[in-house]
Amino acid sequence: SVTSLASSDGFVRCLLQKIPGELVLTPSSSSFADVLVSSIRNPMFFNNATARPLCIVTPADASHVQAAVLCGRAEGVRLRARSGGHDYEGLSYRSARRGEVFAVVDLGARLRAVSVSGGGDAAAWVESGASLGELYYTVAKSNPGLAFPAGVCPTIGVGGHLSGGGISMMSRKYGLAADNILDAKLVNANGELVDRAAMGEDLFWAIRGGGGESFGIVVSWKVRLVQVPTTVTVFVIGRNVDQGAADVVARWQDVAPSLPPELTIRVIVRGQRATFQSLYLGSCADLVPTMSSMFPELGMTSADCREMSWLQSAALIQFWNPSTPVEALLNRRTSLSTFTKAKSDYVRRAIPSDVWKNILPWFTMNGSGQMLLEPMGGFVGGVPAAATPYPHRSGVLYNIQYIAYWSGDGTAANRWISGLYAFMEPYVSSDPREAYVNFRDLDIGENAVAPNDVSTFESGKVWGEKYFAGNFERLAAVKAAVDPTDYFRNEQSIPPFVGPK
Ligand code: FDA
Repeated sequence: SVTSLASSDGFVRCLLQKIPGELVLTPSSSSFADVLVSSIRNPMFFNNATARPLCIVTPADASHVQAAVLCGRAEGVRLRARSGGHDYEGLSYRSARRGEVFAVVDLGARLRAVSVSGGGDAAAWVESGASLGELYYTVAKSNPGLAFPAGVCPTIGVGGHLSGGGISMMSRKYGLAADNILDAKLVNANGELVDRAAMGEDLFWAIRGGGGESFGIVVSWKVRLVQVPTTVTVFVIGRNVDQGAADVVARWQDVAPSLPPELTIRVIVRGQRATFQSLYLGSCADLVPTMSSMFPELGMTSADCREMSWLQSAALIQFWNPSTPVEALLNRRTSLSTFTKAKSDYVRRAIPSDVWKNILPWFTMNGSGQMLLEPMGGFVGGVPAAATPYPHRSGVLYNIQYIAYWSGDGTAANRWISGLYAFMEPYVSSDPREAYVNFRDLDIGENAVAPNDVSTFESGKVWGEKYFAGNFERLAAVKAAVDPTDYFRNEQSIPPFVGPK
């Protein structure tokens, strides 16, 4: 449209006065398409119908992010921050709203430094565009006794992941990734660069789990590093349906959330098989007696143990090939071959084994995908629900992630995931039916924008209480304080709450 062309010209001109030209890619730049696609995980949002950004800014330092915000505000261009591009709905690089004029600020292109400060209180500053794999590798190479508790997939970006929480194989011992943030540098809606002291504790609270995009662009984070033993133990044990998988999964629900926090066993259900994947922060000799006394139904023995360094465990749990070198964690390449749709739930009451016998047949249906069960309890469950925006704490047994995937026609896969989600309703949390913001799902609701060009609190509440429960209103109050005109927004950003007049 005419407006978008006018804005585009003004925005790019403004940027070029403030930052080096090679950091601004317009559709006519030869590398525009390559950079745009570089971290897209879900080809569903990379087709001819997808609205493209009018340009991509690839900041090399915080001042370039500030320039993008100042020019964006002056010229009426919104920004989509992208770190690792793993958003399941593609909100970091596309707009689901027709006609929205936006640019992508791609932190993953150049803002990826990790610097570890050793000593007694081990910590690291990590830039948002670093991948989790880059963070893990740099930390462990600097000191193999240190690690960071964040997600399993190494290509995930630090920026989006820390913004939304971050569930990992060490959450039961050390909490979410967001529970381990000590400081952050953020460019706010006025284009100012603020750290924890300057942003204040309310905004610092909101960015540790309140979801990406809403409050500004986080350039870097100071994170607490955690201690890991030199040897950890991994095991993987599968059970088919005809080997009693339903009963073992049913039993797992009671056991996994109350195991010692050093021991995490998650479950992947796919086809006719439940696979139990485990990380134990300790040796095989210590693990085997715990397993035989607390979870004998799994039949785990020392023959199942694989002992290794924590960094090797991060690679093994991702690639399941012991010969894959740890350097594979540094590979940022993503594949555009698989389309995905994800949804999530939290379970607070164990689902009876008879019900599991009816759930498992869903994984033989046409279009079936997988279900990932991540146990909670331990440290992550002990944090008070209001301490961070992530409310799914005390009383949660586990998180469920449903994933459908396809290449080509997605009709059967989409029908499968919505059918299974409907089927699960009686067995999962309710009022609200909880969901995890990092497993972004636009089916649960999207913001409406009022005539004053601000997202409405009422529309946000529909999806917001599922992600944030009682913390949603506080998030909306923080938004009203720091970005009342709703500059930083997307289809599921926190709307400003102005309160009763
Ligand atoms: P992306 O760049 O797409 O950003 C996500 C959101 O945050 C967008 O709204 C974006 O605008 C915003 N944002 C990004 N950078 C920002 C910044 N610097 N400042 C402000 N806002 C910013 N989760 C989990 O907890 N544990 C796990 O093990 C996994 N595993 C997993 C595997 C795979 C294959 C996928 C695709 C996803 C996961 N996830 C996950 C979910 C993952 O944590 C979630 O998608 C994160 O938001 C991804 O962060 P990225 O930076 O990669 O996303």
